[in-house]
Amino acid sequence: MNLSDQINKAGSLLSTQRKAKIWAVGGGKGGVGKSLVTANTSICLALMGYKVIVVDLDLGGANIHTCLGINIPEKTLSDYISKKVTSIKELLVPTPIKNLQIISGAQDELGIANLKQMHKNKILSKLGELDADYIILDLGAGTTYNTLDFFISADKGILVILPEPTSIENTYRFIKSVYHRRLKMIEELLNIQPLINQAMNAKMSASQGPPADLIKRVIEINPEMGMKLQREVNKFKPQIIINQIRSQQDIDIGFSIQSVCKRYFGIDMNYVGYLDYDSTVWQSIKKRKPLLMEYPNSRLVNNFDRIVHKLLELD
Ligand SMILES: Nc1ncnc2c1ncn2[C@@H]1O[C@H](COP(=O)(O)OP(=O)(O)O)[C@@H](O)[C@H]1O
Ligand SMILES: [Mg+2]
Repeated sequence: MNLSDQINKAGSLLSTQRKAKIWAVGGGKGGVGKSLVTANTSICLALMGYKVIVVDLDLGGANIHTCLGINIPEKTLSDYISKKVTSIKELLVPTPIKNLQIISGAQDELGIANLKQMHKNKILSKLGELDADYIILDLGAGTTYNTLDFFISADKGILVILPEPTSIENTYRFIKSVYHRRLKMIEELLNIQPLINQAMNAKMSASQGPPADLIKRVIEINPEMGMKLQREVNKFKPQIIINQIRSQQDIDIGFSIQSVCKRYFGIDMNYVGYLDYDSTVWQSIKKRKPLLMEYPNSRLVNNFDRIVHKLLELD
């Protein structure tokens, strides 16, 4: 791929204009509660009167339909990519909740697991044109380019984290991957690879140091470009949710992740709230019913209410 293609690629991912707002829900690990958060955040927004579309992008592990209490949709994004259906609108399936529709990802991993950049851009821009206020993406686990790219190009990226060392480790890995992929896109967009290389070489240990230091060094070498770079980097503000909390210590983990990321990457994360560990979660999944609808008195209802208001506040 030549440079101008790369700039186009970076540009279209970072600066797409849309009608609907896109929120992506991710996290480094499977089983942390991404689908729970996607389903119930979407329900909250729909109950508030917003038009919402949930898109299941957990390719291979798609199960958001179960959290919303519907059967697996017949037509999926695979059919759109393979051109079996011509419009993404044909994939929309109603749910029992007013204002809430779903689009299913692929059931087979083939074809969609390695989406080409072109397809990703097309999916995002077509999703953004749908008649909705919010499009919520349930991303898969891991740090594949698909997942990172959807996370990066969403208007809001939400990370779900468990208060356990493995999940925290995976979260840092995820943030690091997103940060580097984004930095690369910005480098291409601003055409400043030589400047970055110069900053990296300025000090032998520079490439080993925190990314925040690298940007400081770019500013020293070229203040104008450095500030541009800094501004683009600062636009990256992931939202974090700690799920399955059982104590105040668990709640505090969100604040420590926030401060580590500020120190190391120089990025500001928004800690939008936590979710209690609660048996109504698996009880509702067993019943194949949406939690918020089935257990309106659960503690989780208050948790979600607070989180969604915080997310809307920061919109
Ligand atoms: N707050 C919670 N309290 C109790 N159990 C939970 C909670 N969040 C998630 N779980 C359990 O973890 C499982 C995985 O959640 P899920 O949303 O499917 O994760 P992911 O989409 O990240 O793989 C659920 O089936 C549920 O049993
Ligand atoms: Mg899931």
